[in-house]
Amino acid sequence: MNWAAATKKLAKPVIFAACLGPLAWIAWAAFSSGLSPTGPLGANPIEYINRYLGDWAIRFLLMALAITPVRITTGWNGPMRFRRMIGLYAFFYVCLHLSSYIGLDQFFDWTEIWRDIVKRNYITVGMVTFALLVPLAVTSTNAMVKRLGGRRWTRLHKLVYPAGILACFHFYMMRKGVQLEPILYAVICAVLLGTRVVTAWRKKARAGAKIT
Ligand code: HEM
Repeated sequence: MNWAAATKKLAKPVIFAACLGPLAWIAWAAFSSGLSPTGPLGANPIEYINRYLGDWAIRFLLMALAITPVRITTGWNGPMRFRRMIGLYAFFYVCLHLSSYIGLDQFFDWTEIWRDIVKRNYITVGMVTFALLVPLAVTSTNAMVKRLGGRRWTRLHKLVYPAGILACFHFYMMRKGVQLEPILYAVICAVLLGTRVVTAWRKKARAGAKIT
């Protein structure tokens, strides 16, 4: 096997393992410190864990959203084969973020959780975002693509646009006031989604011009 083929073969398991890095670090930090307020997770370790997992959820979501625009703007197809994996990692970190909220933050107090969903707007937005991501994760397998048919699958997976926007909105609302980090994520999301929308418009316009 030559070097290029070996790199191609190794890339997937290496990226898969790298994506587990953030989880490995937080698990190590939590277990080694026993969630002590003097440990690496600061004075409020539960809040730290929840926010950290939320940060990685939105980062993976934006990474997944970036893959198609990278292909559009550079013509580089390489990352396309990692798109599903990165998207599923986004969902995985969202699930961990949600689990930490339910288990560590709310201690499985379902009445309080329901009250939170209804009362705190950023939690409502987070839940809606999660609800949009579920069908994307469930239909990510080859079997589901086949079952739905390419067209319906593509249409369904457009849900990733509102999911990206709402995830940024959730972050912005949660931080309260104007803060640089959520704005930066929102700008990245706008550029990525904008690239896709403009490309789709151009494609449609070209197709229209051919017909007339
Ligand atoms: C599933 C429903 C969700 C719930 C219940 C939820 C809940 C929360 C909570 C309680 C916080 C921290 C608030 C605080 O510390 O005061 C938070 C922050 C955050 N969440 Fe979510 N969230 C949800 C979905 C999502 C989704 C889908 C994403 C992204 C894909 C996301 C990304 C974030 C980010 C980036 C933060 C801020 C972290 C920081 O301050 O650095 N959340 N969320």
